Amino acid sequence: MTIEWKDNLATGVNEIDAQHKELFKRIDVLFEACSKRKGRAEVSNLMNFLEEYVVVHFDTEEKYMTMFNYPEYSSHMDEHTNFITDFLYLKKQFETSNEHLTLLKLNMKLVDWLIQHIGKVDKKMGVFLKNKM
Ligand SMILES: [Fe+2]
Repeated sequence: MTIEWKDNLATGVNEIDAQHKELFKRIDVLFEACSKRKGRAEVSNLMNFLEEYVVVHFDTEEKYMTMFNYPEYSSHMDEHTNFITDFLYLKKQFETSNEHLTLLKLNMKLVDWLIQHIGKVDKKMGVFLKNKM
């Protein structure tokens, strides 16, 4: 299972698009480790690596939204908060169960969320930001 970046997910803001691509890469590496049933330590490390990057990325979007007074800032931030909550739940699930299959299924949910979020909410923000930049 691979998750592929597609051009129709581009927001038009270079820094944000580059980070989205990096997120896809990191999720893909995690997927790969899960499907190959790699050890708990390795999967845990990859999750931490992904988590750290998600935070960096959300901070970047927050920076742009604040800089240009984006009117939908608060609902957008709520989505990010929900994502982090789901991610931490998934991480906990793995730490307590070590069920790679469960993790893979939950992982799919996160990917679906990400694609939905980028495709709708982030692209909408991108249109706004591009006009202001
Ligand atoms: Fe976003």
